Amino acid sequence: MRSPMLEGKVALITGGASGIGECTAKLFSQHGAKVAIADIHDELGHSITNSIGPSNSTYIHCDVTNENHVKSTIDKTISTYGKLDIMFNNAGISDDRMKPRIMDIEKTDFERVLSINVTGVFLGMKHASRVMVPARGGTIISMASVASGIGGSATHAYTCSKHAVVGLTRNLAVELGQFGIRVNCLSPYALATPLSKKHMGYDDEGLEAAMNHIANLKGTTLKAIDVANAALFLASDEAKYVSGQNLFIDGGFGIATSAFKLFKYPEYS
Ligand SMILES: NC(=O)c1ccc[n+]([C@@H]2O[C@H](COP(=O)([O-])OP(=O)(O)OC[C@H]3O[C@@H](n4cnc5c(N)ncnc54)[C@H](O)[C@@H]3O)[C@@H](O)[C@H]2O)c1
Repeated sequence: MRSPMLEGKVALITGGASGIGECTAKLFSQHGAKVAIADIHDELGHSITNSIGPSNSTYIHCDVTNENHVKSTIDKTISTYGKLDIMFNNAGISDDRMKPRIMDIEKTDFERVLSINVTGVFLGMKHASRVMVPARGGTIISMASVASGIGGSATHAYTCSKHAVVGLTRNLAVELGQFGIRVNCLSPYALATPLSKKHMGYDDEGLEAAMNHIANLKGTTLKAIDVANAALFLASDEAKYVSGQNLFIDGGFGIATSAFKLFKYPEYS
């Protein structure tokens, strides 16, 4: 393995009981971090901390839409590990239905997605800032999506929520730069996790085949570890001058518009 990139650091990962969050929790721990996992899936969360090892990780029940939960989760991380270096606002959901027409969307369904994907990120940023500002350091990473940079790749609520994460990231990077705190977000292309499989109605192989078919970058498949590696970079001192950025992990999908594809390149032999 590479030399540890997060030795001595403390990380809190929301939505860390599954998918990208779980993979990132394991990777951060392998790189020397103490990891607090915050989620609503208690059984899954405890099983992840058991597999990482109870001396290096802890599970905290936390609904990211509940400010008291978020506040006490940050406080518990501080009382357990003494500080908070890395806040990863990863928890998120998609709509229950694939791309409904705007006129068919219930206000409550729209608001449910925003409450977790946007308000949840805002609360994580707010309470991480509460402890990072006095410490004059730390890094905040939030989960956006390829849908943060383009239209039509997801539902209205999901697309809107991920654009909002970019807005929060940029605004907070400006506010917290004076304290040496870096704020960034990640925008992955679709990959097979419980969230995406439920949303698109595929199994792992079906989802990967469908996504590879329309991907820009061929010959490889996006996996959770690829997103975790990008989070590791942003969390580490390797990214010490990177702030206010939305890092796309999409193989160029977001910039390869379908209109552009009307232009035919000469065949390669
Ligand atoms: N899978 C993809 O294709 C993909 C692509 C781009 C971005 N993302 C984003 O990545 C993030 C992680 O998603 P994933 O694909 O790993 O899905 P996942 O369903 O495997 O993990 C999401 C986790 O968030 C938790 N969660 C949901 N609501 C919560 C709440 N109110 N409070 C606390 N935790 C809550 C879930 O219990 C789950 O453990 C999400 O923000 C998602 O939008 C996913």
